[in-house]
Amino acid sequence: MSNKILRIDSSLNSDSSNSRRLGDRFLQQWLAAHPNDNVTARDLASDPLPHIGQTLLQGATTAAEARTQAMHDALQRVDELVEEFLAADVIVIGVPMYNFGVPSTLKVWIDHIAQAGRTFRYTEAGPVGLAGGKRVYLVSTRGGVYDNSPMDHQVAYLKTVLGFLGIDDIQVIQAEGLNLSAESRQQSLAAAERQIHESIAATRAAA
Ligand SMILES: Cc1cc2nc3c(=O)[nH]c(=O)nc-3n(C[C@H](O)[C@H](O)[C@H](O)COP(=O)(O)O)c2cc1C
Repeated sequence: MSNKILRIDSSLNSDSSNSRRLGDRFLQQWLAAHPNDNVTARDLASDPLPHIGQTLLQGATTAAEARTQAMHDALQRVDELVEEFLAADVIVIGVPMYNFGVPSTLKVWIDHIAQAGRTFRYTEAGPVGLAGGKRVYLVSTRGGVYDNSPMDHQVAYLKTVLGFLGIDDIQVIQAEGLNLSAESRQQSLAAAERQIHESIAATRAAA
């Protein structure tokens, strides 16, 4: 059996990025454990998505034959992103904390994939997520320490919105305190490496 892995990166740093380096380590170990899996990569920093806007919203409520080319293009982009998201069995999201939240490029990706009727729907009993059955690994990096803090609008937000879409299997690889001191950084990165190792070992044991 092979799984489809979707890797998403959002750090503005390239070679110096901790979330990218930890994501690389994660996928190297994942593919060693699951060599038949396929990885699709989406880099939201080097290839950012446009904000959702009026063209998209108006296009969604305009008859197909009456849509402008811009509406058509905006809707097609959403379709592609939603299909890529739904098709993935496992999603690995590299996410630094920026100003207590997620990078704006990642927020834009979420705005595209959170689509009523596709990834969630409203019912009389409340909203229901339609994207269940997949696992998400959040590879989170932070300059400070926010464990269980109400100031965390990064991992807490992603758990909320992905949970809203029906994903309840969310695992966090956490590297925080990276900018506090050399010692804190070293310890945190080593702990994240251990979390990666344990996460992959658990998938081997479950296979
Ligand atoms: C624009 C910007 C905003 C940031 N905001 C925060 C923040 O609110 N809290 C925090 O702990 N670190 C913050 N940081 C630090 C980053 O989270 C930290 O350096 C992290 O390692 C960056 O991820 P990367 O190494 O994958 O690029 C910020 C960094 C940048 C560039």
